[in-house]
Amino acid sequence: MDPFVSAILTILVSVFMSSSISLATSNSTSENFLSCLSTHSEPSNPISAVLYTPTNSSFSSILQSTIQNLRFLSSTTNQPLFIITPTNDSHIQAAVICSSENGLQIKVRSGGHDYEGLSYRSNVEFIIIDLRNLRSVTVDTENGTAWVEAGATLGEVYYHIANKSNTLGFPAGLCPTVGVGGHFSGGGIGTLMRKYGLAADNIIDAYIVDVEGIILDRKSMGEDLFWAIRGGGASFGIILSWKINLVSVPPTVTVFEVSRTLNQNATQLLNKWQYIANKFDEDLFVRAVSIVESGATKAESTILVVFQSLFLGSITELLPLMQQSFPELGLQAQDCTEMSWINSTLYFAGYTVGESIDVLLNRTLQPKAFYKGKSDFVTQPISLTGFESIWTELIAGNSSPVIIMDPLGGRMSNISATATPFPHRAGNLYTIQYYMYWQGGGTNTTTDHLESMKEIYNFMSPYVSKSPRAAYFNYKDLDLGIIDVRNTSYTEASVWGNKYFKNNFKKLAVVKKKVDPTNFFWDEQSIPPLH
Ligand SMILES: Cc1cc2nc3c(=O)[nH]c(=O)nc-3n(C[C@H](O)[C@H](O)[C@H](O)COP(=O)(O)OP(=O)(O)OC[C@H]3O[C@@H](n4cnc5c(N)ncnc54)[C@H](O)[C@@H]3O)c2cc1C
Ligand SMILES: *[C@@H]1O[C@H](CO)[C@@H](O)[C@H](O)[C@H]1NC(C)=O
Ligand SMILES: *[C@@H]1O[C@H](CO)[C@@H](O)[C@H](O)[C@H]1NC(C)=O
Ligand SMILES: *[C@@H]1O[C@H](CO)[C@@H](O)[C@H](O)[C@H]1NC(C)=O
Ligand SMILES: *[C@@H]1O[C@H](CO)[C@@H](O)[C@H](O)[C@H]1NC(C)=O
Ligand SMILES: *[C@@H]1O[C@H](CO)[C@@H](O)[C@H](O)[C@H]1NC(C)=O
Ligand SMILES: *[C@@H]1O[C@H](CO)[C@@H](O)[C@H](O)[C@H]1NC(C)=O
Ligand SMILES: *[C@@H]1O[C@H](CO)[C@@H](O)[C@H](O)[C@H]1NC(C)=O
Ligand SMILES: *[C@@H]1O[C@H](CO)[C@@H](O)[C@H](O)[C@H]1NC(C)=O
Ligand SMILES: *[C@@H]1O[C@H](CO)[C@@H](O)[C@H](O)[C@H]1NC(C)=O
Ligand SMILES: *[C@@H]1O[C@H](CO)[C@@H](O)[C@H](O)[C@H]1NC(C)=O
Ligand SMILES: *[C@@H]1O[C@H](CO)[C@@H](O)[C@H](O)[C@H]1NC(C)=O
Repeated sequence: MDPFVSAILTILVSVFMSSSISLATSNSTSENFLSCLSTHSEPSNPISAVLYTPTNSSFSSILQSTIQNLRFLSSTTNQPLFIITPTNDSHIQAAVICSSENGLQIKVRSGGHDYEGLSYRSNVEFIIIDLRNLRSVTVDTENGTAWVEAGATLGEVYYHIANKSNTLGFPAGLCPTVGVGGHFSGGGIGTLMRKYGLAADNIIDAYIVDVEGIILDRKSMGEDLFWAIRGGGASFGIILSWKINLVSVPPTVTVFEVSRTLNQNATQLLNKWQYIANKFDEDLFVRAVSIVESGATKAESTILVVFQSLFLGSITELLPLMQQSFPELGLQAQDCTEMSWINSTLYFAGYTVGESIDVLLNRTLQPKAFYKGKSDFVTQPISLTGFESIWTELIAGNSSPVIIMDPLGGRMSNISATATPFPHRAGNLYTIQYYMYWQGGGTNTTTDHLESMKEIYNFMSPYVSKSPRAAYFNYKDLDLGIIDVRNTSYTEASVWGNKYFKNNFKKLAVVKKKVDPTNFFWDEQSIPPLH
């Protein structure tokens, strides 16, 4: 037995003996788990070196470091029994085998950005596998591919690509601290999606640890499971690494940001944007973000609509395109900046010009806040009067979300709705993300903000997709429904399953039945096996 694990066991046994007779007379889950781990610990990769118990001095700092949502950094959030920070695949295999044997739930954490904190909290006894140490990115410029370990962040992926080439990139999200473990397995939308699709659309191989603790690649897992992990989430196993196809980007791209208030025709511009942004040349991505600008009184408040763009070309190529299809915006050369693609990732992450790309390697999200997200898909343009009443509702609220509208179309419409679990393809004009964040998390503050989010979500229902009212899995929202038992039924889970996955939900549940019939890999919104 690994001496460290054996020492922990001794401590635990004595704690149980002194505190509870009944626990002392039968083996506790924790003891058995540790004992199992030590049996599976390889001498060359001792698991004790990466195992943290609550008594370990680093336990809290490791637990908290990637709790990105302060809502869950609270004393009422249940803690895991153990945290494992694997440095070798064998650690993950052992953790799966021993958790399964002892009925412990596993939560896997990559970047920790899950909107509902599902990668590090639970209502049942659980352990965390935190992938922070498995984050290498190996770029092969000759073949235009890369192997990315699941604990890497988007910033690390972008950095390592740019380190090798200024004409290769990857289509994924905007926030550099987001982890590829969660992001790629839930889809992955970003500024390159109109040309290249989702992150998940560009995955060509993967290594995964299955419910038996066996490592599979694309060939050995088969095409159904490989399909499911590219958008279907954490229900099928633990992703060790992804092989991705890199995409071409020009040496120079152009970004711009143009803001308009209601007095500056923001409503008319946004209304028009809906008809054209999804039909633009696929090299052009223009998103729109609405923000309430509070005045001294509600009557003085306005809405700011910010048009933010990435164009895969130069300013002189961009201006005629905009003049032709969106002259009302009045885009001028001085609104635009040419830069490298990698610098554009900094730009969209909110860094100021001049910042070194080394910041992409910083895994700390700043500033951390309390937040809540929700999502919608829009299939019919919202009318001018529709927007006017939405603005009234947003301004009337005590707290209002930022509304981020990301255009679809282009490659997104060319990929079949069944090609990956992400079903929101042709027929969708744009996605909406409602994002509310706040500081100071008194219970009432949080309750009020969550309530405001529900109100605006209800208010939006006439304007967005229906039957089902679709949602994006990476903007996880437990208001859509929750399961708190491992044996939940397919029917119960369909309530939110159909929103996230539409007709793909059934296939996901069929694959789940094949690869994990006892629903070992489960969480509050996982795919149940279809029996
Ligand atoms: C500030 C911010 C910005 C964002 N920007 C974007 C964006 O531009 N585009 C976009 O599409 N999304 C965006 N998101 C959403 C983001 O894609 C999801 O929250 C994503 O799931 C986060 O991945 P993670 O690894 O950081 O999170 P985690 O919390 O670590 O994981 C999320 C989920 O994936 C599971 N998981 C993690 N790693 C693995 C693994 N190796 N194997 C199996 N399951 C695993 C976890 O258990 C959990 O259920 C953003 C989120 C935030 C907070
Ligand atoms: C506890 O576990 C050990 C080793 O797994 C086993 O030998 C022993 O019989 C168990 N004791 C009880 C009370 O179950
Ligand atoms: C746990 O804590 C001890 C002492 O605080 C430390 O020596 C040990 O390395 C820690 N365990 C891990 C896995 O770091
Ligand atoms: C894990 O350890 C084995 C044996 O020591 C080694 O061959 C392998 O490369 C390691 N894998 C990782 C991902 O570190
Ligand atoms: C490119 O791919 C081929 C085939 O998979 C492989 O043999 C070759 O080593 C790769 N090139 C590099 C530079 O890794
Ligand atoms: C690539 O990374 C290395 C090591 O971090 C660094 O020294 C080098 O300057 C980088 N090259 C480029 C082109 O970014
Ligand atoms: C708003 O639009 C109207 C008509 O489309 C136009 O006459 C007016 O100049 C615009 N105002 C601004 C500030 O762009
Ligand atoms: C990218 O940003 C760095 C740091 O600001 C700057 O030195 C460099 O010139 C920029 N390169 C391009 C092509 O935009
Ligand atoms: C990473 O970012 C955080 C937050 O902005 C900052 O406090 C920290 O100093 C940075 N770390 C490094 C190594 O730059
Ligand atoms: C979409 O498909 C059409 C027809 O097959 C093709 O001409 C077009 O280039 C495709 N667009 C993208 C972005 O893949
Ligand atoms: C929180 O809300 C409850 C019930 O609405 C109220 O009784 C309590 O005073 C509030 N607490 C604070 C600190 O505002
Ligand atoms: C799930 O299991 C619990 C006992 O573990 C049982 O009470 C409950 O009825 C089961 N639910 C379903 C939907 O099978």
